[in-house]
Amino acid sequence: MKKNKKKELSTFKKINRRDLIIGASSIGAFSLAPKKLLSEEANPENLPPNLPEWTQYLGDGVDVNPYGMPSEFEGHVIRRNVEWLTASAESSVNFTPLQDLEGIVTPNGLCFERHHGGVSVINPQDFRLMINGLVDREMIFTLDDLKRFPQTNKFYFLECAANGGMEWRGSQLNGCQYTFGMVHNVQYTGVKLSDLLLETGLKEKAKWVLAEGSDSSGMTRSIPIEKILDDCIIAWAMNGEALRPEQGYPARLVVPGWEGNMWVKWIRRLEFGDKPYMTREETSKYTDLLTSGKARMFTWVMDAKSVITSPSPEKPIIAKGLHQLRGLAWSGRGKIKRVDVSIDGGKNWKTAQLHSPVLSKSLTRFTLPFEWNGEELLLQSRAIDETNYVQPTISELQKIRGVNSIYHNNSIATWLVSKNGKVDNVRLG
Ligand code: MTE
Ligand code: CO
Repeated sequence: MKKNKKKELSTFKKINRRDLIIGASSIGAFSLAPKKLLSEEANPENLPPNLPEWTQYLGDGVDVNPYGMPSEFEGHVIRRNVEWLTASAESSVNFTPLQDLEGIVTPNGLCFERHHGGVSVINPQDFRLMINGLVDREMIFTLDDLKRFPQTNKFYFLECAANGGMEWRGSQLNGCQYTFGMVHNVQYTGVKLSDLLLETGLKEKAKWVLAEGSDSSGMTRSIPIEKILDDCIIAWAMNGEALRPEQGYPARLVVPGWEGNMWVKWIRRLEFGDKPYMTREETSKYTDLLTSGKARMFTWVMDAKSVITSPSPEKPIIAKGLHQLRGLAWSGRGKIKRVDVSIDGGKNWKTAQLHSPVLSKSLTRFTLPFEWNGEELLLQSRAIDETNYVQPTISELQKIRGVNSIYHNNSIATWLVSKNGKVDNVRLG
């Protein structure tokens, strides 16, 4: 067993609980301090049988926050980036704080962001979606035009193909957020492309679509027509409100179960053709280099994966006794059928409880009660989807893929729980 030695918690001299949450990220160079520093202990004057102080005066009236924000005591629940990972913030990524979330819905303000040319700011009046190429009628739609079509409302996860990409050769980043947080799950509202295309018609020769973004990176990807007609959506809303600018306002392409890169944000054009367009994002990027020197291409589907969100490096165990292990599982092939959990590094497995709703191509919540008496644990979770695909171990994956890949690492992770309750990302082997 090799531990992540780079920046261990022990290098933080005086650890209180808040520092532990911060320090366990092991990245160091940024401030996670919430606006108001919380005291570690409860104030006895606010505890029973006393009347707490907040009962003694009136609180804020309505409209103090016309657009509500989380409690000031939740200031540590934020997206975070790893500054040394990318050269500039405009072409970079930050991570969803999975360890702090409940259920399966990612709040809009916490959805990880991945931009190749920064966030475009688009007045919806200036938005146009152009459909051209091998269609019967080339057309241009306004946002209002799109909203006149029948609507669909669906939960889907979006995972960047690079999620966990740093972990191919060993455990690198000591945090649930940094190793798994390039995923979010929201309810999209939009129009199914199969409905929209009834309007333009499709020529028989149309086999591929080029989806083009209007941001400065000019993001383009080829998508086979079968997928476009199956379940792709042009979405303008997430979790009941307009898309956030970071997520492609006013409209983005939704490609359920397939790698995040294909979900073109700030969408402006769909061109229909008879072959793939071989864009930069599907030739030099988003391919998987094998040991043979050849690369896998068009690896679109996100295979089944899972993560234990608590306990995790950011969520150490703070007391002996009964605890609820919590986690998330997902598959780009459909529904999650089962999640197994091991506390001994994969020797024995127990079936976790799946919480409804269990939706296709959506995050699924699982829990498992466990008793901790101060012993060392090696926590793992393994997802199995409705096609009976089983999430692999890292050595199983490396046998096929080598260690030169960046993308599509869906291997089982291991959290080491030490005797003091501290949790670290480790590699077994
Ligand atoms: N679309 C455009 N126009 N520009 C981009 O940089 N990044 C892609 C994809 N769509 C990108 C884009 C990548 S790599 C991912 S993982 C997802 O958007 C991220 O979506 P999110 O920012 O909503 O999490
Ligand atoms: Co991506």
